[in-house]
Amino acid sequence: SNPSILILPGDGIGPEVMGEVKKIISWFGDKRGLTFDVSEDLVGGAAYDVHGVPLADETMAKAQAADAVLLGAVGGPKYDVLDFSVKPERGLLRLRKEMDLFSNLRPAQCFDALADFSSLKKDVVAGLDIMIVRELTSGVYFGEPRGIFEENGERVGINTQRYTESEVERVARSAFELAKRRRNKVCSMEKANVMESGILWREVVQRVHDEEYPDVELSHMYADNGAMQLVRWPKQFDVIVTDNLFGDILSDCAAMLTGSLGMLPSASLGAPMENGRPKALYEPVHGSAPDIAGQGKANPIACILSFAMALRYSFDQGDEATRLEQAIEKVLADGVRTADLMGPEGGTPVSTSGMGDAIIAALDAS
Ligand code: NAI
Ligand code: MG
Repeated sequence: SNPSILILPGDGIGPEVMGEVKKIISWFGDKRGLTFDVSEDLVGGAAYDVHGVPLADETMAKAQAADAVLLGAVGGPKYDVLDFSVKPERGLLRLRKEMDLFSNLRPAQCFDALADFSSLKKDVVAGLDIMIVRELTSGVYFGEPRGIFEENGERVGINTQRYTESEVERVARSAFELAKRRRNKVCSMEKANVMESGILWREVVQRVHDEEYPDVELSHMYADNGAMQLVRWPKQFDVIVTDNLFGDILSDCAAMLTGSLGMLPSASLGAPMENGRPKALYEPVHGSAPDIAGQGKANPIACILSFAMALRYSFDQGDEATRLEQAIEKVLADGVRTADLMGPEGGTPVSTSGMGDAIIAALDAS
């Protein structure tokens, strides 16, 4: 049977950008014989409006069973007044938690035509293609004890950095698996010089490498040096694997090496399912952009690149993912721009569907 995709467009510009992804999915079916069983459901405010909850149990079950979930964005001013327990974001959090998506992938990819958007020098970022793998479900954001306590007549704020061997093992495996589909290089980042959790992290990553992935090139770096190297010469990296806290900071830093929020995809992966594919949720980094929703102004590229990640990491279609990325590169090189990609020199932006159509035309020509 065909691999399955569950589409959750969500709120605001979510349905608009997802509309372009649906066109692209159809293109791959019609022109490349890559057919998916696509179903669609509600998440976020859109789900709340119908079910009174931001993610219905039936939708959760469909997500658990799908080979990949594609999500647009959730949230919007209409829902800001809702009780915390039914806020749109809770739908997304429930998906991440119940699918146990412990490995968060944030690529920093720079299309040559947009290299001028970076705050770094053009030759530092042109052609950049790196992947940060952030552990997402453990570490200092979850470790116990945590809280604000009284101690010796003053308050003390406490959080605990805590990693078990198995938590490090599974995210390390996920990074090595990705590297095999890329340039076969992993750099692991921690602070083993000052943190015991960092010593354990380094040992376990090295052991997983030696036992299971000896052919992947592995290096270790202190995370503070890593931050410096990311800005100094990011092209030295392929895959970077790091913990939840360092990954939060390093992935935001790396992502912004390359430009607009409308260009940034992401993936969150969990354990392999029976068919060997990891549980997976793909989504753009941006939100529902209420300020431009409903106006056909949204850039669909972040969402389309999220689908390219699904092709590569869920469906083993790396060549087709590259075909799609090259079509986007071509369209950008031709000067096609949504409003968010317009420089100070101005010009006439295309609409959301105009960008999607241009990408399809470039795919047709590929
Ligand atoms: P946002 O990412 O929605 O928007 C920030 C700015 O970037 C806005 O000016 C917006 O117009 C622009 N922008 C974002 N995506 C764009 C695109 N594809 N094309 C062109 N311009 C784009 O973040 P904001 O404004 O902080 O949050 C708006 C709503 O989205 C809130 O309800 C927030 O909770 C939610 N949100 C949801 C996320 C998710 O679903 N994963 C992530 C971040 C925010
Ligand atoms: Mg952050």
